[in-house]
Parts: sequence; structure tokens; C-alpha cells
Amino acid sequence: MKKSNKYTVTAALPYANGPIHIGHLAGVYFPADVFVRYMRRKNRDVIFICGSDEHGVPIAMQAKKEKKTPQEIVNKYHRMIKDCFTNFGIQFDNYSRTSKELHYEVSTSFFKKLHEKEKIFEKVSEQYYDEEAQQFLADRYISGICPYCKNDEAYGDQCENCGCSLIPEDLIHPKSTISGSFPVLKKTKHWYFPLNRYQKFLEKWILISHKKDWKVNVYGQAKSWLNQGLKPRAITRDLNWGVPVPISEKKEKVLYVWFEAPIGYISSTIEWAQKKKIDWKPYWKDKKTKLIQFIGKDNIVFHCIIFPVILKAYDSGYILPDQILANEFLHLENKKISTSKNWAVWGHEYLEDFPNQQDTLRYILIANMPEKKDNNFNWKDFQKKNNTELVAVLGNFVNRSLTLVKKYNNGIVPNPGVFSTKEKNILTKIKNHPEYIGNLIESYKFKESLACFMNLAKIGNKYLTEEEPWKKKDKKRVETILYVSLQIVGMLAQLSEPFLPHIAKKFLNMLRLKPFLWNKIKEEILYPGHLLGDPTFLFEKVTNKSIEKQLKKLEKKSCK
Ligand code: MF3
Ligand code: ZN
Repeated sequence: MKKSNKYTVTAALPYANGPIHIGHLAGVYFPADVFVRYMRRKNRDVIFICGSDEHGVPIAMQAKKEKKTPQEIVNKYHRMIKDCFTNFGIQFDNYSRTSKELHYEVSTSFFKKLHEKEKIFEKVSEQYYDEEAQQFLADRYISGICPYCKNDEAYGDQCENCGCSLIPEDLIHPKSTISGSFPVLKKTKHWYFPLNRYQKFLEKWILISHKKDWKVNVYGQAKSWLNQGLKPRAITRDLNWGVPVPISEKKEKVLYVWFEAPIGYISSTIEWAQKKKIDWKPYWKDKKTKLIQFIGKDNIVFHCIIFPVILKAYDSGYILPDQILANEFLHLENKKISTSKNWAVWGHEYLEDFPNQQDTLRYILIANMPEKKDNNFNWKDFQKKNNTELVAVLGNFVNRSLTLVKKYNNGIVPNPGVFSTKEKNILTKIKNHPEYIGNLIESYKFKESLACFMNLAKIGNKYLTEEEPWKKKDKKRVETILYVSLQIVGMLAQLSEPFLPHIAKKFLNMLRLKPFLWNKIKEEILYPGHLLGDPTFLFEKVTNKSIEKQLKKLEKKSCK
């Protein structure tokens, strides 16, 4: 028997130092979930892997701020994040965490092997040290004047004004952002990964092999890194929180979080396979397996350059990503989402305020997904899209159709008579939808795929309104119209799952249907004689009051 190709789909491991907000959901987790749900319905051999990213300086800092240990911080946020994903229906095969023993083993084995094979080297260098805070300063905790554009709020890794990448020593008048003091240079030993040795390999792999099939934003950023010329990069840090460097005699040296966290995709897969008692290797090492990674825009370099090079250097047959998908940014009420300024809509708060309306947020964020350019979320638009599209078009069409069938045919799918030309066209159109939508999802055009789905509801709604079966005298005509409407309804129920999984369940139950495999979603979804369930409303209106409450909440946040 021919084995089917595998798909390993990963979503960026979120930092466990804060909750999930709409920017994360729109940028990474919703699109990834739509894709995976669709692939499962296609019966593809797909796994969806994620977990919490629990190391790094921000978490250590957060712990300091909250006067807790880093482990307490990550425990709290890991729970919150995991629950948030579950409640929004993001269906990972495994959601792990990088503070697990297994991840320590896997990531240190990477480091050890690279060290044994002399793929990394040691170097003593001088780094900025904050004497007041008594710690070495991560690049991002040093600010100063950009040597290129003279912006005085540049960071040690990047100037956000001119976009150039920097090293802390480039900054003019460096300052610690932790204590505000002027840092001193102090000697410290670290292990470096010579990225420059892989320049040619990456140029061939990215600039030649993926010029056509990667999204322009991803390809463009990777290319600009390559054009700047790659330099060795430290893969260890002076910090007391993280995976300890296995060969260091000194304590308080850990693996750089961007070295170790992507390996978390692998350890999470291993954890999954152990639970299922199957072999994980085909998901990472079979040449036919496709690795598809959904990430945030600020993660591009790590996934396009650093992680692939680690896999390549480790050299034991790992596949490289086939696709790396990053969106642009989502703004909130026309302002940049900011965790530190608390300018965000948090997933867990939304779930509290709009219980049972998870799919409304899924719908709106997929419809507003910042695929090619930044996009904006605002509450008025949220209300409008919910009320005019989900309620008034999709929900209304389905409800009207079922109510009419109940009234005219006891809730039984009627036998149609002769179809008009218009009806024949509609029936052909519906038949093509699984393939249309599928092709769009497989080309990662999520917004368009959702629009295509919604268009079907519009067709149905318009058809029913125009045909006015309630005014018809001829019984066969009424039955034909209801039959056609029901085929659209059935199709919508079958296709809704990747986008609206909670509604899909309710929807299919109401029709007393099982979900079909995507390739089996055929023209006649509801056969004559099939008994439907009772019509209920699939969507609820969003009231002015609840929107005002959200706007007030934001106002309060921005005043703080
Ligand atoms: N924690 C990072 C972020 O939220 C993403 C890490 S992705 C991984 O931006 F590759 F490191 F896993
Ligand atoms: Zn600059």
C-alpha cells in the first residue's frame, strides 16, 4: 500500500508571559487551525503541534516584576493560554511546554551534538552589564541612539525607526532599560553558531527554491537578511532561567531561547508520539513530509534562517520547512496592539464577555486577517459583521429554510420537480464550492476562502427571497424551491467547520447530518425523505450595549 504524505503543521510557541490577544489569534492560530481542520477533513495525515515558550529574558523580567519565580509565571500563563486555545476550538494534536524534562533533553542533545561535531565555537567577548540590576543585558534591554538614522529610542537588536538590525555596541549612548543606568562592558564566554558558513546554502534554498512559493513578506525579509550578510550568532545567554548549557562549568548560562524554543516543535511532536505509541520520526525526517509553519511577522528570521540552519547542521535527516506563513499586524481601533500598554482585546476576556460566541470572533478575525497588509479590528465592525453577515445572511437563510420545510413538509426534505435554469446554475455552483474553498485554503488564502463560503449563504438568501415559496400555489414548485434551498443549507453545514467549528457542530446536528470527508461533499447533501431536526438560531445578535461596554473598557485601559 502506498503511504500517504504527511503534514507537520506548527504554530509559533507563544511566550508564557502574558495571555493571548486578538493579534495572535488573527495572525497565527486561527489561520493555522482553519488549515489543519480542512486537512483533517481531507483525510490527510496531518499533525498540529504547539506549546508554550517558557524561557527567555521577558519571562525572567516578568517574574521580577510580579515578585514571583519564573516557573510560577509560566505555570499561570501556560494554563491561561492553553484554556484560551481550547475554548476557541484551536485543535492541536499536542500542546506542550518548553519547561518540560523532555524538551530539556531534546534541546540539550542538539546543543551537545553540534558542539561535538564542532559546528559551534566558543568565544569570550565583552557584553553590557547592568551593575545596578546585577545582570547582563539582553540586546533588547539596551536602548540608545541609532548610528544610522539617529533615532534615540533604538534597541540593542534593532532600530524600529529605520528597520536596520543592530548589535548593542552599535548604539550611541547605550542605556539599560531595566535600571536606566549606563551599562559597563564585562567579559563573558558564550557559544556561537557561525551562520555565515551557511550563507550559500540558505541562498540556494531560499532565493532559488522558494522564490515563487513563499509569501512575499516572508521571502522579502529572509532575502534582506541574506543581503546584509549573515554573521555568527551567540546561542547561549547569561541568565538563570532557561535550559542550562550542558557543557558549561559555570552556572547561570542557558541556551538562547531562540535556539531552544523552535526545537520545542520537535520535542512536542515526540511527546505526542510517545502518548500515541507511534514513531515521531516520519513527521520530521521523511523527505515526503511537508513541514508548514505558522508564525508571527517578528519571527520570520528565526524560522527562515536560524532554525533551518540548526536542522541542517545537526544533520540527521531533518526536513526543512516547506512553507513559513506570517501575516502582517492587526491593529485595534486604529492603534498598534500593545501588551505593555494593555491596548488589546484578550482572548480570555472575550470568552467571558461573549460566551458561546467564539465563532463570531473566529469569523471576524479571519475576515479581517492581515494577510498582505496591516488590518484593523474595531468593535463597531465586529458588531456589524456579526449582525449583518452571520445573523442576517447565514443564520437567517438557514433558519428560514428549515422553518419553511417544517411548515410545508413536516421537516422532511422534499422531492423536487423540474428545475429552472437559474436553479440548475445554482446547483452546479454549490457542487463546485468544496473544491473552490479547498483550493483557496491550500494556497493559504484564508480570507478569500471564508468570503467564498459566505458567498454561498448570500446566494441562498437571495434565492429564497426572490422565489418567495410562501406565496406559491403550486405545491411541486414549493417543494422544488425548498429542495434547492436545502442543498445550499447542507453544503454550508458541511463547509463551515474549518471556520466555525462550534457552529458547525450545532448546524450539522440540526440537520441530523454527519460531517463528510471534504472530497465526499457532493451535490445532493440532503436526500429527499431525510428528516431534519428542529430549527434553532445559529447566531446571536451583538447588542449596542455590549459594544459600548467594550469601548468603555478600552477607554479605561488607554487612560491608565
Ligand atoms: N515565543 C515566540 C513569540 O511569541 C515564538 C516562538 S516560536 C518558536 O514570538 F519557534 F520559537 F517556537
Ligand atoms: Zn535607525
